Amino acid sequence: MSKSYGNLGVLFDVSLSIPIGQAVGIVGPNGAGKTTFLSVINGTEPTSAGSVFFNGTDVTKQGAEERSRSGIGRTFQIPRPFSNLSVFENALAGAAFGGGLRGREAQTAALDALEKSEMMQFANLRAGGLSLLARKRLELARALSTQPKLLLLDEIAGGLTEAECISLIATIKNLKDSGITIVWIEHVVQALVAVVDRLVCLASGTIIQDGIPDEVLKSREVLSVYMGTGI
Ligand SMILES: Nc1ncnc2c1ncn2[C@@H]1O[C@H](COP(=O)(O)OP(=O)(O)O)[C@@H](O)[C@H]1O
Ligand SMILES: [Mg+2]
Repeated sequence: MSKSYGNLGVLFDVSLSIPIGQAVGIVGPNGAGKTTFLSVINGTEPTSAGSVFFNGTDVTKQGAEERSRSGIGRTFQIPRPFSNLSVFENALAGAAFGGGLRGREAQTAALDALEKSEMMQFANLRAGGLSLLARKRLELARALSTQPKLLLLDEIAGGLTEAECISLIATIKNLKDSGITIVWIEHVVQALVAVVDRLVCLASGTIIQDGIPDEVLKSREVLSVYMGTGI
């Protein structure tokens, strides 16, 4: 697909096929178009050209809500919980509006999401008063409450200490092991490498490398983008 914001081209003929159950890491410099790439997958932004298929269905014309209800969950780079609601209520809102669930089903999905994101201990706390790690975990809980088959993570480990990052990696590894397909944007490369099967490097709106993480990180193209060594 391609994506422009007005006259600004951001993604240029980006093509990626992700098998069910795979975890894909995305790296690339600031402004490369990584967040935009997630936005056109989950429908926050329409594509300018091309298409998005999910589970064999063309979802290109669907909005974010419809895609969320069919199983595409997403976390945002800047967490935006409902600050005055409790952690549980935030997850419940995700289950109800993002997941389209009602009543006990929504409650069960919210509790399950709190368990998987390790937020159960904070269930009754006000979301606005949480630490950064807990806010990141709540962002994850909100995405999980929609019961996604595909989970899109946008810099969820950014700003965390090393110990916090290690604990979050373990949580995400468990999600992968449970069979959820993951696309994870992250600058903290060691976090990605601990979880993903495949690494994609996006630079200036095009995929410059796609393959086994170690090989991608060592490639001339990726070193050139990060170290300015020139290809
Ligand atoms: N909603 C928007 N409207 C206009 N330009 C945008 C918008 N979102 C992102 N951009 C621009 O698109 C480019 C890619 O941004 P982004 O996808 O956020 O990159 P990354 O996540 O890789 O840092 C940047 O030049 C950014 O300023
Ligand atoms: Mg971004």
